[in-house]
Formats: sequence, C-alpha cells, structure tokens
Amino acid sequence: MLKTLLGGLSPARFLREYWHKRPLLIRNALPGFAGLIAPAELLQLADRDDIESRLIQGQGQHWRLDHGPFAARDFRRLPKTDWTLLVQSINHVLPEADALLRHFDFLPHARLDDVMVSYAVPGGSVGPHVDSYDVFLLQGQGHRRWQISLQEDLALLDDMPLKILRRFQPQEEWVLGPGDMLYLPPQVAHHGVAEDHCTTYSIGFRAPAAEELAHAFLMHLQDTLTLEGRYADPDLVVPRHAGEISRAMLTQIEAMIARIQWNTRDIADFTGRYLSDPKPSVFFDPPDTPLSPAAFGKRAMQRGVALDPRSRLLFSGTQFFINGESFSPASAQRAALRQLADTRQLAAPRVQPLLALLHPWYCAGWLGIASA
Ligand code: SIN
Ligand code: CO
Repeated sequence: MLKTLLGGLSPARFLREYWHKRPLLIRNALPGFAGLIAPAELLQLADRDDIESRLIQGQGQHWRLDHGPFAARDFRRLPKTDWTLLVQSINHVLPEADALLRHFDFLPHARLDDVMVSYAVPGGSVGPHVDSYDVFLLQGQGHRRWQISLQEDLALLDDMPLKILRRFQPQEEWVLGPGDMLYLPPQVAHHGVAEDHCTTYSIGFRAPAAEELAHAFLMHLQDTLTLEGRYADPDLVVPRHAGEISRAMLTQIEAMIARIQWNTRDIADFTGRYLSDPKPSVFFDPPDTPLSPAAFGKRAMQRGVALDPRSRLLFSGTQFFINGESFSPASAQRAALRQLADTRQLAAPRVQPLLALLHPWYCAGWLGIASA
C-alpha cells in the first residue's frame, strides 16, 4: 500500500486512532495526483441520464439545488463564481476512479459507497453541513479551503433544498492542493469553499440506518418466508358479542406470528444480497455479441478476468453474493472467488475452475476479459 496515503500511518493504526473517530489531514497523500477528469469532460458526463448529478448554487442563507442531467447550455448560463457540480459514482464510468479505490482496499468493500467528484468555480461550495458517513476528500486540481468543526449544534437552516447548518463555527481550517486529502468521520461539521477552479474526489462509505436495514430485512423475509398452517377453531363456542375479536383468536394469531424466526445464516444471506445489490441507477452493459462459453474460456485463460466497476462481489463464509444474488460455489472454486472479490480481478492461471460461473456474468456485463 502507498505509504503516503495515510500520512505514514499504517492502516491498522489509522483504523484504531482515526477511523469513525476523528478527522485527519494528510498533505500529499497521493503525490502527483491532480484529478482524473478535466472539468469539461465532467460537465459532459453530467448530461448522461444514467449518471446522478447535482448543481448547487449559492452562499450564506441562499441556496439552490438542481438535479441533472444538464445540457451544455445550462452551464453557459451560470455566473463565474459560487457554483458546484457534483457527479456521483464516477468510479462506475471512469476506470481511473475505480483504480483509485484500490488504494482504499484496507477497508471492507461492503462499506464502500462510491467516488463522487465535485467541480467548483471560485467561491463554489455545498454549504456547511454534516454527513452521516465517513469520507476521504481528496483534492484534484486547484485548491479548496476546508473548515471543520466538532460543534454539537447541528440545527439546520429552514426551508432549504440542502441540509445547511444554521450556525457553523469553524475550529480548524486548511487549504488543500492537488494530492492532499482530508478524512472526516460522520457528523463532523465541514465546509469546503473553492479558492479557484477546483475538483474534489469524495471517497464515501455507506452506513445504513437501522430503520433502512430493518425495512429491507422485512422485505427479504417476505420474499423468503414459508409458514405452514392456517387459522383453525374447532373448539369455537357461541360468542357473547359477534362483533368482538376473542382472546383465543389473538392468542392463536400471536403464536403463528411468533413462528417467524431467523438465524445467523438468514442474516448473512440478507446482508450479502442487500450490500451487493447495485443502486437503482446502475445498469450493466452486456456485450452486443457475446463470446461462446468456449471462446470466452479460451480468452479468459489467456488474459484473466476483471469485475465490471459497477459489480459488487462479496462473501460471508462459504456463501457468495454478486449484484444482489446469493450462491454457494463448490469448495474447489472458493479460493479463486475470494481472490476475485478481494482484488476484483483474477489472473489467467486461476480462472479455469470458475469458467462455468463466469460466462453468465460476462454475458450480463458483470465481468469482462482483463484488458492487456
Ligand atoms: C464537495 O466536494 O464540494 C462536497 C463534498 C462534501 O462536503 O462532502
Ligand atoms: Co460533506
């Protein structure tokens, strides 16, 4: 791993002392890094309807938020200062952004959300706010002044299209230049204002809310649950009130509902499917004329394979999950699959035992032949 990424800290020490706990400024985290995409190309990406983009204008008490896609003329109308374009999941469309994520492989893939890029003109900002997730803010081109605060007052301005802190009291500030990086745990107030034309790459981590998880788990249960039996009352006696729900009826229904149970395996199955499920905006590009299984096998065994940047492959014990689906591979396949999940690619000599599994993934656009 790149020694400079965490300012000389080992990943273990970073996790122990900073991760999810306190901010860390790292000067020159990625030496020579000056961004992955030119602003003009970013504006073009914001015109695609399969890419989530937002335009934020304003400062102080006045903010405006528009959602993409945006045409070139939308940008021509903008002032010279005080706006920011945010483009989400750039790692899905830019191989360099996917490669950037490999520097963060000391964190579990299951926690990763995406890489978002912001392009701001001088004065551009999204306002002082807190996020509910961990983020590494890596400066690309230009300079951004970051102010942070550990304040407890997280009250927001009323009636704003964005969550903007009502009273932001900065405690520390730095100007970040190309290759500098600021790590922020959740709930640290921050405000980043562009000093010049600048791009910032946010490597964001997902932290689902308990309610969101519970809701998704209940949906999963609904899809997988089978309960035998039906309400029965062979001992029914004439009721005093025909309109009343009897105690006996409630007791029987309570017992039926109490038969809904789950174990650690069910939780693992749900978690793997849930966390590997692509966001609704994700669409894969299957090959127009897919290779036959034999031709695919020959090529994969020459060049190796690589997951599509949009694919999510995770595992828990012997159970594997890809893009929301769960499967149990044969024991001879597991080591190579674990390697594919960890490194997102597999060298040619390791591909053979997986070919039957990988060809359908290739046909779905989930995986491709490694490039050179
Ligand atoms: C930005 O890049 O302008 C915003 C990133 C953030 O504050 O989370
Ligand atoms: Co933020």
